[in-house]
Amino acid sequence: MGKVYLVGAGPGDPGLMTLKGKGLLECADVVVYDALVSPAILAMIAPQAEKINAGKRRGRHSMMQEETTQLLIAKAQEHAIVVRLKGGDPFVFGRGGEEMEELVNAGVAVEVVPGITSGIAAPAYAGIPLTHRLYGSSVTFVTGHEAAGKYRPSVNWQAIAHGSETIVIYMGIHNLAYIVEQLALAGLSKQTPIALVRWGTRPEQEELIGELGTIVEQVEKTGFGAPAIVVIGAVVNMHKKLSGCRPLSG
Ligand SMILES: C[S@@+](CC[C@H](N)C(=O)[O-])C[C@H]1O[C@@H](n2cnc3c(N)ncnc32)[C@H](O)[C@@H]1O
Repeated sequence: MGKVYLVGAGPGDPGLMTLKGKGLLECADVVVYDALVSPAILAMIAPQAEKINAGKRRGRHSMMQEETTQLLIAKAQEHAIVVRLKGGDPFVFGRGGEEMEELVNAGVAVEVVPGITSGIAAPAYAGIPLTHRLYGSSVTFVTGHEAAGKYRPSVNWQAIAHGSETIVIYMGIHNLAYIVEQLALAGLSKQTPIALVRWGTRPEQEELIGELGTIVEQVEKTGFGAPAIVVIGAVVNMHKKLSGCRPLSG
């Protein structure tokens, strides 16, 4: 039996890949990767490794979760080093916890290699520090893609609105109108600053900055789309001053 490494690929800029993750890509026998892993990171994979795209994008499920797990189990029976490469961090809205649990249940050796999550890196590359002594001393990370049901209750937007000064939303673009409405109903001012950061840390990064009351209209006007991170709170005002210091993507 080999071992499965759940590796975080970071948000896209290859310079943000961890040394440990890169080392594993260079000696992997098999790499099973997701849709949001950037081409620059895929280029780090050893040429002799078998590469399998298990990419899942909204509405385009190229491989079901169960199929992916079965594939990892089968590959671990044949090879020493199997890398499961996921965008950002595997344990942050990446189903890494579920995959690891299933591998453990199947008796497969597995280890996680954390990555830099897009919820931190995309705002940073847009000049938005998630905390700041004057504007925000607490942060909430939440999914905007509510798959409420058997395994998960729906997001309590009332609590989220008042739980911290900065709110970071993953997968929030498709539900943005609903989310903004819920936060406004919970009492957030329509003037609350909001930023959307698309393809954060990649050369094609784009930002849309506005206010809670007008952002949906801005999105409709510009056609701004996923994948993007949404940041809400006074820290967004730092964008004006700091966005000029954006690091160069690799
Ligand atoms: C299934 S979640 C995976 C999150 C990932 N595990 C992480 O830690 O970044 C996918 C969502 O992450 C966000 N995302 C991932 N990469 C991104 C990037 N480079 N720029 C902006 N948002 C990104 C988007 O909200 C996207 O819809």
